[in-house]
Amino acid sequence: MTKKLTTSTGSPVADNQHSQTAGQRGPVLLEDFHLIEKLAHFNRERIPERVVHAKGAGAHGYFEVTNDVLKWTRASFLSEVGKQTPLFVRFSTVGGEKGSADTERDPRGFSVKFYTEDGNYDIVGNNTPVFFIRDPLKFPDFIHTQKRNPATNCKDPNAMWDFWSLSPESLHQVTILFSNRGTPKTYRHMHGFSSHTFQWNNHAGEAVWVKYHFKTEQGIENFRRVDAVKMAGDDPDYATRDLFDSIQQGQHPVWKLYVQIMPLQDANTYRFDPFDVTKVWSQKDYPLIEVGRMVLNRNPENYFAEVEQATFSPANIVPGIGFSPDKMLQGRLFAYADAHRYRVGTNHDALPINRPIAPVHNHQRDGSMRFDGNGGASPNYEPNSYDGIKETPSVATAPYEVTGQTGSHKYPSDDHYTQAGDLYRLLSETEQTDLIDNIVTAMQSVALDIKIRQVNHFILADESFGARVAKGLQIQVNQ
Ligand code: HEM
Repeated sequence: MTKKLTTSTGSPVADNQHSQTAGQRGPVLLEDFHLIEKLAHFNRERIPERVVHAKGAGAHGYFEVTNDVLKWTRASFLSEVGKQTPLFVRFSTVGGEKGSADTERDPRGFSVKFYTEDGNYDIVGNNTPVFFIRDPLKFPDFIHTQKRNPATNCKDPNAMWDFWSLSPESLHQVTILFSNRGTPKTYRHMHGFSSHTFQWNNHAGEAVWVKYHFKTEQGIENFRRVDAVKMAGDDPDYATRDLFDSIQQGQHPVWKLYVQIMPLQDANTYRFDPFDVTKVWSQKDYPLIEVGRMVLNRNPENYFAEVEQATFSPANIVPGIGFSPDKMLQGRLFAYADAHRYRVGTNHDALPINRPIAPVHNHQRDGSMRFDGNGGASPNYEPNSYDGIKETPSVATAPYEVTGQTGSHKYPSDDHYTQAGDLYRLLSETEQTDLIDNIVTAMQSVALDIKIRQVNHFILADESFGARVAKGLQIQVNQ
C-alpha cells in the first residue's frame, strides 16, 4: 500500500527530490517551506548526550519472582512467586561519548526500570559492587578526570591517576577496573549491582537494609586488554550489536537477582560504615538471597525513542522500598531527575518509554512539550473539593534514626586497603598478571610523583601487588 509523503503538519509533499528554485540553475526560494522545515528539523535532531554513560544499548524484558521475600518488603512487584513485571534495561559505558567504543576499560552501567503497578522502580547500578568515591561533592571532579583534558581534548591518564592517587578510597574500584572485569566481553556476560544500600520495608512497617546483585546466567566473560583494544577498532559497537543480535536470534539473556539483607541495627555495629559505597558487605556475614530472574526478550524498535529518551533515576522507588543514608546515593537522588529535565525535558516522564503503567494523578501541569492532555479541565491544585485525588499515608517509607551534628564530616574509617588487597589475593596468577600489565600500560605516561603515590597505595593493599606494579613501571618506591 502506498502512502502520501507529507509535511509534519500532514500536507502532501509535491517534490522531495528537487528544491524550489528561481529558474533552472537556482537560487533557492525562501517559500520552499518543505525544504526549510526539513533542514531545520534536521538541525535539531540531537538532544544533549548523557553527561556520563552516553554510549549505551537497551532492551525490553520481564522480571519474574522466584522466591518469597514478602517478610522483608511489601513491594507489590515482589509480592508472590511467579509474578511477572515488564521492564526496560539500559547498559552503558561511562566516560566515552555517544560514539565511543563499547570495549573501552570502564565500569558498565546497568539500569533497570521495572514498570510496576505501584509506579516505576529504577535500579541504576553498575557492573561493579563498589564505586571510586563516596561523597557526591567529588563526582564532577572525578568525572572531569575521566573525560577530556581541557587543553588537548584528549583522554588524560595523568589526570585520572592524579585524582585516584589523591583519593585512595578509589583503590578497590580501581583494582576491579584494571582487572579484566574492566573490559567485559559483552553486556550479556557481566553481573549488575545496585552498589548502594537501599531500604526494604514490609507490611508491618519493619525495615532492613538491602544491596542488589544481578548475576548473569550467560557466565562472566571478559576481554583481555589487547583483544578489547583491537575490538575497539574492528567493531566499536560490538556489545551493542551483540545484545541486539542475541535477542533477535531468540537467545534471550537472563540474570538472577539476589539481595544481601542486613538487619537495621547491624548498621550501627558493623565493622565499617555499611553505607560506604567503596566497600562490599561480606557474603559470609550477609549471604545472597534469591529474589527472581530478569529476562531480556525484545529489542527496541527505535533507538532514539526508547534508549536515548529513557530516563532512569535512583529516586524512582515504589512502596516497600526506601533509601539509605549513603551520601553518594543521596546526591544521586537529586542529580538524575535534574539531568533528565535538562537532557530530555520537563515532561520526560510522560514519554512512552518512561510512562508508568500505573495511572498518574497529580497537579503538575504545563511545561515545554506537554504532549498529553495536560490534565484537561480537572483542578490543578490540591487540596481541592473536586477530583477525589488523595494521599496514601500507609506507603511512607520506614523511618531510620539519625544522630549527630551538622557539618562536613569525613568518613570515620580510612581503611581503603583491606578489600582491595583481598580482591587482589583472590585473583588467579594469570588474572593478577593481567591486572598488573593493565595498570602498568595505563600508567606509562603518568608523572613520576603520581606513579610513586599510587604504587604506595597498591603496596598498602598488598605488598606484592605494589611491588609488581613498581617493577613494571621501573620505579623505586620507599614507603
Ligand atoms: C548516569 C550522575 C554515581 C550509575 C548518570 C547521569 C548523571 C549521573 C547526571 C546522566 C543521567 C541522564 O542524563 O539520564 C551521577 C552522580 C553520581 C553518580 C552525581 C554520584 C554522586 C553513580 C553510581 C552509579 C551510577 C555510584 C552506579 C552504582 C549510573 C548509570 C547511568 C548514570 C548506570 C546511566 C543511566 C542510563 O542508562 O540512562 N549519572 N552518578 N552513577 N549513572 Fe550516575
